[in-house]
Amino acid sequence: MSKLPKMIAACLWLLSRVILPQQALGIHHMSFKPVILATAEASDTPMRITNLCSNDIYPAIQTQAGTGPAFGGFHAAPGNTTSFKVSANWQGRIWARTNCTFNSNGTSMNNSGPACLTGDCGGLLECKGTGEPATLAEFTLATNMNLSFYDISLVDGYNLPIGIVSLHNESNNSDLRSLPSNTTNPVCIGSPEYLTSVDDLNTTTVATNTTLGSITYITPLEEALGTHSVSRWCPWPLQIQPPWKPGDGVFPYPDDGIKRPDFDPCLSMCSKYGRDSDCCSGSHDTPEKCSPNMYSTAAKRVCPDAYSYAYDDATSTFTIQQGAGFEVVFCPSGRSTNIQKNINKS
Ligand SMILES: *[C@@H]1O[C@H](CO)[C@@H](O)[C@H](O)[C@H]1NC(C)=O
Ligand SMILES: *[C@@H]1O[C@H](CO)[C@@H](O)[C@H](O)[C@H]1NC(C)=O
Ligand SMILES: *[C@@H]1O[C@H](CO)[C@@H](O)[C@H](O)[C@H]1NC(C)=O
Ligand SMILES: *[C@@H]1O[C@H](CO)[C@@H](O)[C@H](O)[C@H]1NC(C)=O
Ligand SMILES: *[C@@H]1O[C@H](CO)[C@@H](O)[C@H](O)[C@H]1NC(C)=O
Ligand SMILES: *[C@@H]1O[C@H](CO)[C@@H](O)[C@H](O)[C@H]1NC(C)=O
Ligand SMILES: *[C@@H]1O[C@H](CO)[C@@H](O)[C@H](O)[C@H]1NC(C)=O
Ligand SMILES: *[C@@H]1O[C@H](CO)[C@@H](O)[C@H](O)[C@H]1NC(C)=O
Ligand SMILES: *[C@@H]1O[C@H](CO)[C@@H](O)[C@H](O)[C@H]1NC(C)=O
Ligand SMILES: *[C@@H]1O[C@H](CO)[C@@H](O)[C@H](O)[C@H]1NC(C)=O
Repeated sequence: MSKLPKMIAACLWLLSRVILPQQALGIHHMSFKPVILATAEASDTPMRITNLCSNDIYPAIQTQAGTGPAFGGFHAAPGNTTSFKVSANWQGRIWARTNCTFNSNGTSMNNSGPACLTGDCGGLLECKGTGEPATLAEFTLATNMNLSFYDISLVDGYNLPIGIVSLHNESNNSDLRSLPSNTTNPVCIGSPEYLTSVDDLNTTTVATNTTLGSITYITPLEEALGTHSVSRWCPWPLQIQPPWKPGDGVFPYPDDGIKRPDFDPCLSMCSKYGRDSDCCSGSHDTPEKCSPNMYSTAAKRVCPDAYSYAYDDATSTFTIQQGAGFEVVFCPSGRSTNIQKNINKS
């Protein structure tokens, strides 16, 4: 849950090897806090949230630094795009809640308990904290290295597919406007309903190709998994609504051939069991002492560009020159991207 600072520290460590050997050497040994720019408080960085899901969702926004929008959550019908502005130094996360019932005061019915099945934040329409399980889009728009860091995280579980679109082509910075999008827009699709066949990739909604001049920049996708694998990646005990299993325990783990629901939200091992070894906390609070578990291994396979546990490979973080806004798309169709692996290859 407090994974963002670790992510940034890991990211700075990576950059220290690649970009700034002198300046950043040893940074990850200090309890490093990212230096957020103190200037540019005006809220002029455009953000958008789009609901391509077939159902209503309730997007949630948590501001961790800088100035966020005036609201912490809202109702988005299918097809809705909501635009807002944040400060250039905004840091925060965006996720969606599903299966919600709010009363007219924006709280749960009878003012008690959760209002949503997934992503719920204390039963409030206007979130003031986080909610699980939920696929997260995480942003640090500005750092002292003039870079934006962002990622898709499955560390707090998975509910819906997410794509992040960098809006650099709408930026005021001409360096950013001419950047192709094949390394900037990660997608995570862990729900069979939104998975596109590898024979039909020209219908993907977020992971598209960019043509600049005579060059077409192709976004690399995960192409190995079929509908069957994508429908049952969540380890059986972590499903929040497992289908009825005849003679529970008699059938061999894990698959049993039982059909999973299309909407199959998944808890992380950390939220289900809360052990230090699953949460990378307590005596497991270092990269050396916290390894991937059954959940994070499955999550990484289905969404290779997403963070799957607190100390996942630092390359799950995307970096881009700062100055652009972002769009978070819920339920894009297509396939998960496999960008980081291809960047590291070249
Ligand atoms: C859809 O988006 C518009 C523009 O942001 C917003 O004003 C409207 O209330 C939204 N409605 C729903 C139900 O999604
Ligand atoms: C809960 O929400 C999901 C995702 O929006 C949807 O697929 C599912 O049908 C909903 N379930 C119920 C019981 O409404
Ligand atoms: C909304 O809040 C007001 C003031 O606290 C209360 O009187 C009213 O009963 C609440 N309405 C609902 C639907 O809970
Ligand atoms: C709210 O309270 C009413 C009356 O006590 C009850 O019938 C209903 O099931 C409750 N709803 C929820 C969501 O708890
Ligand atoms: C970041 O940008 C500012 C303003 O454009 C510039 O003064 C500064 O040198 C840049 N810092 C780095 C590390 O590139
Ligand atoms: C930026 O790119 C997105 C998708 O790649 C496209 O929908 C949008 O029209 C572009 N905007 C501009 C200003 O070029
Ligand atoms: C570009 O600059 C103008 C004026 O400062 C500002 O209003 C606008 O929001 C900026 N656009 C982006 C995409 O940052
Ligand atoms: C992107 O390029 C690949 C490889 O040529 C192609 O298979 C795919 O259909 C293209 N995607 C789109 C959205 O056009
Ligand atoms: C996508 O590609 C398939 C096979 O190449 C073709 O039949 C189909 O018409 C294309 N769809 C679109 C929307 O271009
Ligand atoms: C982006 O496209 C360019 C041009 O085709 C290619 O050289 C590069 O490897 C691509 N990047 C990734 C991560 O696939």
